Amino acid sequence: MKIAPSILSADFARLGEEVKMVEAAGVDYIHIDVMDGNFVPNITFGPSVVASLRPITKLPLDVHLMIDAPEKYIADFAKAGSDIIMAHVEATPHIHRAVQMIKQEGVKAGVVLNPGTPIESIKYVLSQVDQILIMTVNPGFGGQSFIEETVAKIAELDQLRKENGYHYEIEVDGGIVPETAAKCKEAGADVFVAGSYIYGAEDPEARIQALREVLN
Ligand code: DX5
Ligand code: ZN
Repeated sequence: MKIAPSILSADFARLGEEVKMVEAAGVDYIHIDVMDGNFVPNITFGPSVVASLRPITKLPLDVHLMIDAPEKYIADFAKAGSDIIMAHVEATPHIHRAVQMIKQEGVKAGVVLNPGTPIESIKYVLSQVDQILIMTVNPGFGGQSFIEETVAKIAELDQLRKENGYHYEIEVDGGIVPETAAKCKEAGADVFVAGSYIYGAEDPEARIQALREVLN
């Protein structure tokens, strides 16, 4: 089981230290939420922030693109040092092309589904992706409540993986705390994004340990 703190809830004035702190606490990925103010009603950061973080951590950079027409920026995010790039199926009519482009850059490719989007929409890329991100809140903001209906989607993806021998990992994002992480794990999730639960705490290390306990 992998833990991926989302820097969306970090102190941006101390971003490097915030990343090093969770790395020292033994997390697996750094999750980077890219928002464009169009696909989602919030704006965060672009490739230059990824490039600035690249030399300060050995951890894989897990880049979640919440932007319209993600194809336009895949090369920029890859060159900035992303290890995994994920595009929302709702953000492009060309999700297959987006996956191809990410792979051509030599980066692991992922697709993302909003809570209301069915698995059917990614049926024909399931064999090609390295990671599938199931949004367990509506994207755009940290600190929202977990949407219970999404658990069935995780279980369905896990079932499809077993039946067809697909290699993707299932990541969950939004409202993750030990209780909801345990439900997602039970359903088949492998990678757990947590933003406010970790960075909003007085003792982020203790929160990472608490997550680790329910995931091991
Ligand atoms: C939401 C982002 C998440 C966010 C999760 O659009 O994709 O990664 O940081 O925040 P929490 O863990 O606070 O729900
Ligand atoms: Zn995210």
